[in-house]
Amino acid sequence: MQESENSIITNNNNLLNDICAQIIERSIATSTREEKMQILVKELHNSLDYYFWVGFYYPKDTDMTMGPSAGPPACASIGYDGVCGKSYKENKTVIVPDVEKFPGHIACDPNSKSEIVLPVRDSENNLFALLDVDSDSLDAFSEADASLLENLLYQLFTAKN
Ligand code: SME
Repeated sequence: MQESENSIITNNNNLLNDICAQIIERSIATSTREEKMQILVKELHNSLDYYFWVGFYYPKDTDMTMGPSAGPPACASIGYDGVCGKSYKENKTVIVPDVEKFPGHIACDPNSKSEIVLPVRDSENNLFALLDVDSDSLDAFSEADASLLENLLYQLFTAKN
């Protein structure tokens, strides 16, 4: 990796770190889970160029359906398939560097090239949603994205305040 690529990644991580802190700060005053979700998707989508689409899916009965989201129109329901289905079934973060190489990927937008999906857990540690972020660049998400977003979701939805 070239030095310039390294510094772009470091800058992105610093920016994401700052945005996560702002989202937590802004969410302190909000009462509902849905409001926090709205703040999160808007802030991440508006602040980071490579966060092309940001949204939640709710697992419910036979289907997963879209919750708060920001970005181009996306699939309203996705069954239990695709990257979200894998994250749900394995109850863990999934990073896909190239969606074309992920068997069963659900393509909601042809510009989506890479993806990260994270489980969202409530204060009883039950998975109640998935956070899905798509990028229009290949290999856009690193372990730093995963750990910053995992911490953000923990602070907003799991931690008992
Ligand atoms: N690509 C996802 C579906 C949702 S969209 O990316 C908005 C998947 O394979 O689960």
